[in-house]
Amino acid sequence: MTTLVTGGAGYIGSHTVYGLLDRGDEVVVLDDLSTGVRAQVGEGAAFVRGDVGDRALLEATIRDHGVDAVIHFAGSIVVPESVADPLAYYGNNVVKSREVIAACLAAGVKKLIFSSTATVYADDAAQPLGEDERKAPLSPYARSKLMTEWMLEDVGRAHDFRYHILRYFNVAGADPKGRTGQSTPKATHLIKRAAQVALGRLPHLDIFGTDYPTPDGTGVRDYIHVTDLAAAHLLALDALHSGAPSATYNCGYGRGLSVRDVICGVERVTGRKLPVVEMARRPGDPPTLISDPRCIKAALGWRPAHEDLDGIIRSAIAWERRFNS
Ligand code: UD1
Repeated sequence: MTTLVTGGAGYIGSHTVYGLLDRGDEVVVLDDLSTGVRAQVGEGAAFVRGDVGDRALLEATIRDHGVDAVIHFAGSIVVPESVADPLAYYGNNVVKSREVIAACLAAGVKKLIFSSTATVYADDAAQPLGEDERKAPLSPYARSKLMTEWMLEDVGRAHDFRYHILRYFNVAGADPKGRTGQSTPKATHLIKRAAQVALGRLPHLDIFGTDYPTPDGTGVRDYIHVTDLAAAHLLALDALHSGAPSATYNCGYGRGLSVRDVICGVERVTGRKLPVVEMARRPGDPPTLISDPRCIKAALGWRPAHEDLDGIIRSAIAWERRFNS
């Protein structure tokens, strides 16, 4: 079995590529290296540098490597950036996903895993979030992901084509073996930035919003270790290969942590006070996102193994120290 991983040089993609290689799967990565890093693509994976919107390249890659399934990570992920430049997000995330799906149909690939997001749900949906909660995405980023979900649903109905959509909550941490981690320049993720502050690479951590309707006024998220998320992709792939029908799963632990909880965690791990500055809310940020993980656990047998917040923070700091050191 050969899997094409788009965005396989990126954060979650590179961890998933290692997961596939570690168990002996054949992998081909397609990545334009706009945010990904070539050196983080595991040895043993074939690598094609190119644009995921390039239909001819996609079809040639699928045929040349005998691809059986696609894991489609490539896309843009920063909520505030999408608010400022929506067309870039609809282009990268919707138009190019359409090309990936079309290439699959043209080249005979019938299975795809798609990276979606917890931010597709309505602000007032009940927490923790089940997959059927009402959708009302706030940002162009989230809307671009939901539009692609709809595209997959329609294509699944019209063609012999099955997919698993994984809605990620907040992904953090790094490969426990230290082979890859979050390397995006100017990354905006809370735990990544907190790690940079802890190492003195940023002067302070901004707290975006202290007036949310949450227990301590700061945003609440379900932080999930990237290695557990990569494992979910492998299970989803196996399920599709075993004939499972199309499905959508939330990927989080079912635990809400505030920005201040994360700051306390960093202080616990480092033994030092973290310099912070309280700021206004960031546009497009919902107050709370917590997953109900029961479906993925029941259907795919997903068993997270890296839930400890301090462990997540430690791995993020260890990677940060290695990266750019
Ligand atoms: C992240 C993902 C998004 C995903 C979503 C799912 C990225 C860049 N974004 O968005 O793709 O769909 O999770 O839940 O990976 N915060 C601060 N200071 C900072 C950075 C963040 O206070 O310096 C706060 C934010 O306001 C938010 C929380 O921390 O309340 C998490 O923010 P962030 O790590 O940027 O992730 P999301 O915006 O939730």
